Amino acid sequence: MNAAVRAVARTAFFRGWEVMGVWAGYRGLLEGRIYPMDRRRLGGIIHRGGTILGTERSQRFVAPEGQREAAGQLEEAEVEGLVVIGGNGSLTGGLRLAELGVKVVGIPATIDNDVYGTDVAIGVDTALNTALEAIDRIKDTASSHHRAHIVEVMGRDCGHLAIMSAIAGGAEAALVPEVEPRPEALLLFLKKAYEQGKSHFVVVVAEGSKLSAEELEEYVNGTAETYDARLTVVGHIQRGGSPTASDRILASRLGTAAVEALEDGEMGTMVGIEGPGIRRVPLGEVVGRERPLDPGFYKMAEVLAELPE
Ligand code: F6P
Repeated sequence: MNAAVRAVARTAFFRGWEVMGVWAGYRGLLEGRIYPMDRRRLGGIIHRGGTILGTERSQRFVAPEGQREAAGQLEEAEVEGLVVIGGNGSLTGGLRLAELGVKVVGIPATIDNDVYGTDVAIGVDTALNTALEAIDRIKDTASSHHRAHIVEVMGRDCGHLAIMSAIAGGAEAALVPEVEPRPEALLLFLKKAYEQGKSHFVVVVAEGSKLSAEELEEYVNGTAETYDARLTVVGHIQRGGSPTASDRILASRLGTAAVEALEDGEMGTMVGIEGPGIRRVPLGEVVGRERPLDPGFYKMAEVLAELPE
């Protein structure tokens, strides 16, 4: 997100605009924490994860009264256009402000990749690489000890990170919220792998899977007379760290595109990625929907993990 903050501010400065930063998300907006952006603060942040502005959820902002207050704060600070960087919750807030007449442009940023209207969101690639590194490391110990390892990655409602890290990490199976778990079939697969002398068995489980990573570990250890199972939760490590080149470039492109959209007088729009290009999509089409998990990837992960008869 820092790369996006930097791109928005620098593109706006280039046009001779004045740039203000809203500290601490919608909560900060309600508290009037809107301050001029110091150019020097933008230096040395592109390689840092998170956001220098900070981000906080706000219950007060969820209510229409809070939203009116927030719009009032922007008016008072003489803000003419607002760029909102975030996932579905942040973009919903952006739409509500746009409905109150604020000129809002949204930028999708969430490691879950569940924002509708963009192929990819800021943070996905970095989180994926972090999850992958964990899987690679776990695979080493799993092979040495001849164990089954269950790796829980983030994704409360969306299995994108789980399925992509399972494919990239060569995992034996993945459990995602979108697909009903089949523990018996998984157990049979595990047995087959064991009997064929496979040195490890790695299952990537999304945080929101209907069969949790913990339940799966218990199930395997309680029923399978094969591998001994261990559980690793990658957790919030996925939400930090130096962003990948791909994420920095994506954030720079979207930040630039957001300012261009504001310049064109766009209101209530999100800038996203479609194929090789940038697209503008109304926030009204984005909010209330979720980017679905491509079932083709789920099938592909299964095929690539298939064992010979
Ligand atoms: O939205 C991204 C996400 O990583 C989800 O996958 C996860 O469930 C959630 O954030 C956890 O957020 P927090 O722990 O900050 O409430």
